[in-house]
Amino acid sequence: MAQKPIVILGVFVADTAYRAPRAPHMGETIMGSGFKLGPGGKGSNQSVAAGRLGGDVTFITRLGRDAFADMARSTWSASGVKSAVIETPESYTGAAYIFVEETSGDNAIIVCPGAASLISVADIDANAQLLQSAGIFVTQLEQPIDAAMRALSIAREAGVTTILNPAPAASLPADIYRLCDFVTPNETEVSELTGIGVETVDDARGAAARLLEIGVGTAVITLGDKGALLHSAKQSVHIPAVHAGDVVETAGAGDAFNGGLAVALSRGVDPAEAVQFACAVAGISVTRAGTAPSMPTSEEVARIQASTR
Ligand code: RIB
Repeated sequence: MAQKPIVILGVFVADTAYRAPRAPHMGETIMGSGFKLGPGGKGSNQSVAAGRLGGDVTFITRLGRDAFADMARSTWSASGVKSAVIETPESYTGAAYIFVEETSGDNAIIVCPGAASLISVADIDANAQLLQSAGIFVTQLEQPIDAAMRALSIAREAGVTTILNPAPAASLPADIYRLCDFVTPNETEVSELTGIGVETVDDARGAAARLLEIGVGTAVITLGDKGALLHSAKQSVHIPAVHAGDVVETAGAGDAFNGGLAVALSRGVDPAEAVQFACAVAGISVTRAGTAPSMPTSEEVARIQASTR
């Protein structure tokens, strides 16, 4: 299958996930019902999603020299992800605390990126050739924004299709938007970016229109169990979520979506079909525990797409 290379910039952390009936209050200890340690970090999860789907993906990051760095490398090699790692022995490979609510599978996260918080503009310049040789470039906001900006700018200048997943929510420099062919926020993130509260598909359309006004090529707003809205100058399409089974854990669903979107676009699929594919990838990921470990293969996505058509 003809496909272009995907380059992803971001963070790897070890996810420590705690299942419990509710989050503890300050000063309180509560009993949980399950714990799992596994690979995470939005950029790494997106790379794993793309790799498992058969994409040609290279991940740029920093790691410490420790057991979590070993976990990162073995995760990537098992998922077909190539890496451009800047070793950072003076720091540590990061970790995330993930509270998973037992009944709904919803989550709340604290992430400490460690070594990856030292990713610099100079690191990006050192990887300029890799970025320029990509067909698709993806980044998020867990590493410093100036590094993301520099990478978007190098990729954009080289004619690479750029995707910014603005997660976690942050307010961004005004000149970042014109560097983005696609911006892929969820409801909370798009509200942070535009000041427009999003609950319905129509709200999302209003927020997406605002993103286009400030320079974004195409807005893809993820709406949880309502699917996603694709909005550009050419089309505005609501794509429903794909129900692949009972929800076990929603952490990593956005990463599954972005990895899927990158792979579909790298194969020349048109944007509406690419968003449908991404919805199927995310729909499967939420039926499984963990973030990176929940990413499906292309065959699994094809099966679910065939059964929901
Ligand atoms: O998007 C989910 C990810 O966010 C988790 O893997 C956690 O590490 C945080 O980075």
